[in-house]
Formats: sequence, structure tokens, C-alpha cells
Amino acid sequence: EKGNYRHFMQKEIFEQPTVVAQTLRSYVRQLEQAVALPQFDFDLSGINRVTIVACGTSYYAGLVAKYWFEQFARLPVDIDVASEFRYRDPVLEPGGLALFISQSGETADTLAALRHCKAAGQTIAVVVNVPTSSMAREADLLLPTHAGPEIGVASTKAFTCQLAVLAALAAHLAVKRGRMSRAEECEVVAQLIETPSALNAALAHDDEIAAMAHLIAPARDVLYLGRGQDYPLALEGALKLKEISYIHAEGYAAGEMKHGPIALIDEAVPVIVLAPSGPLFEKTVSNMQEVRARGGKIVLISDAEGLAEAGEGCLATIEMPKVHPLIAPLVYAVPVQLLAYHVACAKGTDVDQPRNLAKSVTVE
Ligand code: M6R
Repeated sequence: EKGNYRHFMQKEIFEQPTVVAQTLRSYVRQLEQAVALPQFDFDLSGINRVTIVACGTSYYAGLVAKYWFEQFARLPVDIDVASEFRYRDPVLEPGGLALFISQSGETADTLAALRHCKAAGQTIAVVVNVPTSSMAREADLLLPTHAGPEIGVASTKAFTCQLAVLAALAAHLAVKRGRMSRAEECEVVAQLIETPSALNAALAHDDEIAAMAHLIAPARDVLYLGRGQDYPLALEGALKLKEISYIHAEGYAAGEMKHGPIALIDEAVPVIVLAPSGPLFEKTVSNMQEVRARGGKIVLISDAEGLAEAGEGCLATIEMPKVHPLIAPLVYAVPVQLLAYHVACAKGTDVDQPRNLAKSVTVE
């Protein structure tokens, strides 16, 4: 039931602090300040490579995880969308972990890729929201998300719960591989525990985002820019907007702008920039200047520090709390979801049942 909400998608966006906390309870031991995975028989310390396969929003969660596994656990990661992966004869060496991410656990291409990897002797890990699904049954290592049923066709709470599990998995692998000290593990746990309140802080901008939706709703095209682990969020923001508002949207790595997409920029193309302050911020600010010099209108999503430095002259800004890089993708997911939601409402589209889309894609 939708309760006081107008749409399931809206309800599911607002459930995120609760369901992320619920999910993290299975992956974090608060008293011991340790990450811990659900009980299983494998020793992950021998893993030498990770192959991530998924579709749509779940694939974008995997893209974020690639940054984390490489950065924290120093594990090489290969990642692909399932429909490409299964037909490209990927190299799968012994000792590999194949990781599948899916809300439904029934997506046909992802399931076929899982079976392919199993036949090739990979250890199969699955991050899945439906515990009775085919993928859950066929996993060696089942990593459930506890998002509860997701009804809206546009995935929201499943995504942030996937990210929560993947962050814990990245930390677990890093500890197992001797790449993360006890002090760093405690810090990660402390940050993960803070996530629900950071999500609440992000949700507090709902009215403000609703009020700016009319600035985006008339656009024919919208660009989303991000860097590093926030680049997949740009892709996710663009996917959310196109799915439910039918506005053409693209996500780009901020530094790729000048290699082509900048040709699209004019006053009619809003550019949504996702950029927490930090070591890469200056680079993104110079990309913003390139956009502005061509008349582009920017919506900057950043923290107080970032907005103080680069917020001036923007069409609009949205202030996120200042958070650890490990939880930034979860927090920055909220404003892009809300923006897509309110733009769709402004356009009067069917938010929960967008045209041409099914909740679970069980055909190839
Ligand atoms: O159930 P899955 O996570 O395997 O589904 C994958 C995609 O079909 C799904 O994320 C799709 O892209 C959503 N409509 C995104 O909002």
C-alpha cells in the first residue's frame, strides 16, 4: 500500500533510510565495529579477480562497486552488462569470483550469465532482493538486500541497498586480503552506521527539488556529469529521468565532456553535476566552467564546501551532507531519484508504470 504517498516510487525513495539500515544490520556488527557477511562456506581471501554482471540500475551499483573493490581491496574487476557479457566469450580464470546484482533475481540475461560463469568454475556471489528468486537459489554466496518489495518500475531503494551490501563486501574483501587495517575497518563501520541519517538529510531537500522540477521539465535533453565513483550516479540519474519522464538524458564522466558531448551544450540543455568536495572536485569545477562558457545551465549537487566554492552562477544547487566517499554514492542517489520523480510528476507521466517497461525483464 502507498499510505500517504502519491506513488510507490515516492514511498520507496522515502523508505531508504529504514531499508538501508535494515540491510546493514546483516552486514555490520556494531558492537565489534566489524563488517561481517552472512554465514557461508567460502574463504574469500583466495579470490584473485572479480567479474561483475548485471543490467540497468543494478549494473550501475556494480560500477560503483568496481571502484570500491579496486580501491579498498586492490582486486582487479571486470564488469559488463549481462546482455553483452554472455555473448563475448569472457576470459574466466580459476579463482575468480563472479558477482551478479539483481533486484528481482529473475532478469533473463543476468541469470544466463550466472549459469555461464558457474559452468566455467567461478564462485557465484549474488546480491539480490528477492530471496526466493532463481539467482538466490543458484548462488554459492547469497548476499541479500532487505529492501522489501519494490513495486515502482524505476528501481530506487533496491539500488541503495545493493550499494550498502557492496560497500560491506568491499570492506570484507579488503580485510581478508590484508588491505584494510583494523582502524580503517572501524572507520568504515562507523560511516556505514551513519548512512541512514545521511539519507534522511538528503531526503530533507524534497520540497526544494520539487520546486525546481519545472526548470527541468521543459527540457528535451538533460546531461548528468560525475567523476570517479560518482560517475555511475550520473548514469543512474540519467536512466531514472528517461525512464519516468521520457526526457532524453545521458550520463557522462565529467572529463569526457570535451571529447564530444560538449557539442550538445546550449541554454536549453540543463546539466546536472554530481560532485562532492574532495580531491577530484577542482577538476569537475573546470568541466563546469566549460559548460558555462557555452551557455549551459548547471544544477550542482554537492556539499556545503563544494557549493561555497562553485555554487555561484548555477541554475540551482542541492546541498548534500558531507560524507565519506564510501557512502557518498548512496546519499547522492537520493537527489537524482527525487529530481526524476518530481520532473515526471510535473510532466504528468505514469510514474509507477512507465510506458514500454516491465518491472522484471524475464525475456532476452
Ligand atoms: O531485477 P534487476 O535488478 O535484475 O533488474 C535490472 C534492470 O532491469 C532494472 O534495474 C531496470 O533498469 C530498472 N527499471 C531501473 O530503474
